[in-house]
This record gives sequence, C-alpha cells and structure tokens, in this order.
Amino acid sequence: MSVTAGRNIVNLALIGFMGTGKSSVGHTIADQLRFEFLDTDHLIEARSGRTISDIFAQNGEPAFRALECQLVEELASRKQTVIATGGGLPVNPANLDSLKQHALVVCLWSSPEKIFERVREQSHRPLLNDPDPLAKIRALLTVREPFYKQADVLINSEFRSIREVAQQVVLQFRMASGQK
Ligand code: S3P
Repeated sequence: MSVTAGRNIVNLALIGFMGTGKSSVGHTIADQLRFEFLDTDHLIEARSGRTISDIFAQNGEPAFRALECQLVEELASRKQTVIATGGGLPVNPANLDSLKQHALVVCLWSSPEKIFERVREQSHRPLLNDPDPLAKIRALLTVREPFYKQADVLINSEFRSIREVAQQVVLQFRMASGQK
C-alpha cells in the first residue's frame, strides 16, 4: 500500500535544509501544476513586518519557531498550494504531522558542501552567521536528518537542475494525489 493511502493530498509541501532549492523548485512546480506558491519564511516576514534575522535577534529562535508552528496550523485549510518551508520547520514533529494531513511532503536533499556553496554569499540566514558555517551546516544536518527522512519522498537536488527536480516532484505529486 502506498504511504499516502487514506490521506487527502491537495497540497505539496517542500521541506529540506537551507539552500537545497525549495523556493526555486517550488515556484517551478507551482507554475506546472497551476497552484499557488507560498513560502513560510516570506509569509512570516510579511505578517510581522520584520525580517527573520530581526525576529531571531529581537525575540530569539523560539519566538520564530512559534510563528512557524502557528502558520503551519493555518495551512491545513489551503488547497492547490505549493508550500516551501523554512529549513528548521520539520524538526517540530507537530509541524510534519500537520503538513501530512493535507500535503505530499517532499524533502530536497544536498550535501553539506553543496549547501555551503549555495549559501556562502548570502547573509539573511541567522543560523549560518557563524565563524565556521560549513561546520554549522554539518552539525545541523546531522541533527535534522531523521526529521527530513520522514518526508513521503526524498529527492537529491545536488546534481539535478531545478527543472529536473521539479519534474520528478510533479510526477510524484500526480501519483499521490490521483491528479492526471
Ligand atoms: C532556517 C531556515 C530558513 C529560515 C530561518 C531558519 C533553519 O529558511 O526559516 O533562517 O532553521 O534551517 P530556508 O530554509 O528557506 O533558508
């Protein structure tokens, strides 16, 4: 029996570490499926009128995680939406459980080296403002791996183009949701 049997799959959720391509791939998938695209980080920023770095600096990581959790609960009422999630969101089991109620959960995976290459020039991720970002990426990935692996589908995005990854995800989504 398939892992999604008995579930009402109407949305698609992308999980995975920072820099694995969730937003780029998510936009492409949303275009292909003619779904709406939603990015949890962007929505949190838009609603609070602050950047994620500001939320971390002023209120701390737990406050950010609470906003994430609150948003995930709201997502249960969405339909035909591609949801790109922040890299730490699935570490809270309640978030993953909630997403699985209505979405096919797909994890994008890359090696720490590739992730580092992708994020090294960017400064908007507070968790990577570290003297040794590669070591931080490795450490966080080790802790998060068991959570990411609870996705319905795991796709290595390291050696594939955005288009190829999107195609694979769309195929999986069509099978899981019964969409032709
Ligand atoms: C985080 C990832 C970020 C953002 C925040 C924390 C994490 O999202 O939610 O900086 O804990 O991995 P992206 O994965 O979209 O960069």
